[in-house]
Amino acid sequence: MTDQTETDQTESGLARTAQPHIGRPGRHSAASETHHAARDEGKADVPPDPVFVTDKLNVYYGNFHAVTDVDLSFGKNEITALIGPSGCGKSTVLRCLNRMNDLIPTARVEGTVSYHGHDIYGERVDPIEVRRRIGMVFQKPNPFPKSIYDNVAYGPRVTGMKVDSMDDLVESALTGAALWDEVKDKLKQNANGLSGGQQQRLCIARAIATTPDVVLMDEPCSALDPIATLKIEELMAELRNRYTIVIVTHNMQQAARVSDRTAFFSVQQKSETGDRTGALVEFDKTTKIFESPSDRRTEDYISGRFG
Ligand SMILES: Nc1ncnc2c1ncn2[C@@H]1O[C@H](COP(=O)(O)OP(=O)(O)O)[C@@H](O)[C@H]1O
Ligand SMILES: [Mg+2]
Repeated sequence: MTDQTETDQTESGLARTAQPHIGRPGRHSAASETHHAARDEGKADVPPDPVFVTDKLNVYYGNFHAVTDVDLSFGKNEITALIGPSGCGKSTVLRCLNRMNDLIPTARVEGTVSYHGHDIYGERVDPIEVRRRIGMVFQKPNPFPKSIYDNVAYGPRVTGMKVDSMDDLVESALTGAALWDEVKDKLKQNANGLSGGQQQRLCIARAIATTPDVVLMDEPCSALDPIATLKIEELMAELRNRYTIVIVTHNMQQAARVSDRTAFFSVQQKSETGDRTGALVEFDKTTKIFESPSDRRTEDYISGRFG
């Protein structure tokens, strides 16, 4: 137990207090054994150094079983793409990774999401700290109706981050989001005056201002034109050096261009009840998924025969 407390403080750092972590011990190692076994058999290639491992992740909205038994891992400093037809549970799974589903009253999460080996749904874990370390960018750019500067400074202020110089932090986040040169002379202007692509890069700057470890992006380019999309894709390639990125995209070319690994989800019928539920079909290196998928359903989807 002592070891676990120590690791919790140093590596995941999510605990509210210094008390021992009392999540659901034992399940993480079971998950990684499964992954190793898969690699040994020469099956799907799984990330060697995962930041997240989900084990039998199930999500319900009320009585509706939205996703079933998702076992997935997300590699450090990799971009993982979640693809699949609308309604297969991509956003639902993404939201489990930083406890955003907590904010949906009917949502219920079962199974384990371990982050650096610790259950983020554990009793001692502070969801605010989870969301500081695991930032999120949404489909529609959603800057606050505040100045560019205040948008970026918002997260560090509300989470009470200790900051030597807010000016330096704002500059570094805007530089990191490839926006600094375009806005450095108008930091006090309202963010709503920026173009859609600039607003989305501002949202990325806002997400990285709290110095997260992971950035989750839910269809971040779907409201943008092709040039703004290209800029975000180039930015993602740079961000990968510093962050672990998970992106939901309905654009298969985008998944193929930007990601290292791809998880393909689809809507399946449950054998017992015939009810429809989202499920993971195949997870592998992006090149494998797009060039020689193992599952027929993946092949049908990526070749446009379905979805
Ligand atoms: N807040 C919610 N309340 C009830 N059902 C939801 C909610 N969000 C998503 N769902 C349902 O869960 C399933 C998965 O949705 P979602 O994760 O949004 O899929 P995707 O992102 O792949 O399009 C869908 O059937 C959707 O209608
Ligand atoms: Mg979605």
